[in-house]
Amino acid sequence: MAERRIVLDVLKGEAVFPPPIWMMRQAGRYLPEYRATRAEAGSFLDLCYNPDFAVEVTLQPIRRFGFDASILFSDILVVPHALGRDLRFEEGRGPLMTPIMADEVARLTDTDPSAFHGKLEPVYETVRRLRKELPGETTLLGFCGAPWTVATYMIAGHGTPDQAPARLFAYASREAMTVLLGLLAERSADYLIRQIEAGADAVQIFDSWAGVLDEDLFELCCIEPVRRMVERVRAVYPETPIIGFPRGAGGLYDDYRRKTGVTALGLDWSVPFSQARRLQAEGAVQGNLDPLRLQAGGAALADGVGAVLRGLADGPLVFNLGHGVTPQTPIAHVEKMVALVKEASR
Ligand code: CP3
Repeated sequence: MAERRIVLDVLKGEAVFPPPIWMMRQAGRYLPEYRATRAEAGSFLDLCYNPDFAVEVTLQPIRRFGFDASILFSDILVVPHALGRDLRFEEGRGPLMTPIMADEVARLTDTDPSAFHGKLEPVYETVRRLRKELPGETTLLGFCGAPWTVATYMIAGHGTPDQAPARLFAYASREAMTVLLGLLAERSADYLIRQIEAGADAVQIFDSWAGVLDEDLFELCCIEPVRRMVERVRAVYPETPIIGFPRGAGGLYDDYRRKTGVTALGLDWSVPFSQARRLQAEGAVQGNLDPLRLQAGGAALADGVGAVLRGLADGPLVFNLGHGVTPQTPIAHVEKMVALVKEASR
């Protein structure tokens, strides 16, 4: 590797100023070229499973904005799909699955790992091609959903505001929930290992629904499965950084890195800078601009970028949003954000 991959250096704990930048959901509907490729692909899942299309949409935001990291284009729900659960994406409704029942969980553990990886082979092919096509200095990120967040969609069958069905499942069937999360942890870790083998420089575990759990369920559903994943990935690739993103975890962010072993912490915008700096004393952080500041633009954007830089850019920081970019975000605002970060001075 001749070129320096700055995101990788920062994830390992080095402070770089100005900080490197990428954006969650950087390949998506706010880009006209994404909408065109998606129309050509026919459906969202065809986009995920066809390496020609998936490579193209992954590269689109890199060409346009020169982000320092590129994230594989796929979805967290390809894992339950590869486990044999049905999955559809409907325009305007998001993902739809047949809800899994507690007594179906045991059967899922019988599924053959080689069939699982066979179904995910197009994703591995996408990663291999991306590492060849990306600029040498661009860090390539693989990803998967955390077991809890993936389980919430498997249980409810669709998005919900507070994941009540999955929480009720955990209270009524703690044993089945533990088995389900254990299976997802094992298969998801193997999925990340294959992505690293194919060329991913680092990986992110998205726990987008970590914020709806009390302390007891947070331990059971978020900490323990992610800890097992980190252990399994590290056994094969001890040097590859792992970013944990327990969105909305609030005070439960404090022990997350120590308990799970993740290398870097993704922060949502509700984390105050005082807490973020304490977390940063123990390793790299990533975040945490409110995506709606980016959508709003103007002073809201400039003030928000300034605050993140003042708050966190003295330590190891990967500049990012606190969650995914919205489809309504103007491209000019993204260009402005990149310029504000790249041209920052102390
Ligand atoms: O960041 C990237 O650019 C990489 C691609 C990526 C997608 N989904 C593409 C996508 C990543 C990393 C994800 C992760 C994901 N998927 C998460 C965790 C992160 C988060 O945003 O909280 C979750 C919960 C999902 C499940 C999912 N996929 C939902 C709930 C939806 C519908 C909501 C929506 O934004 O429409 C999706 C669809 C999806 N995944 C889209 C994209 C670009 C939009 C689909 C489309 O093009 O119509």
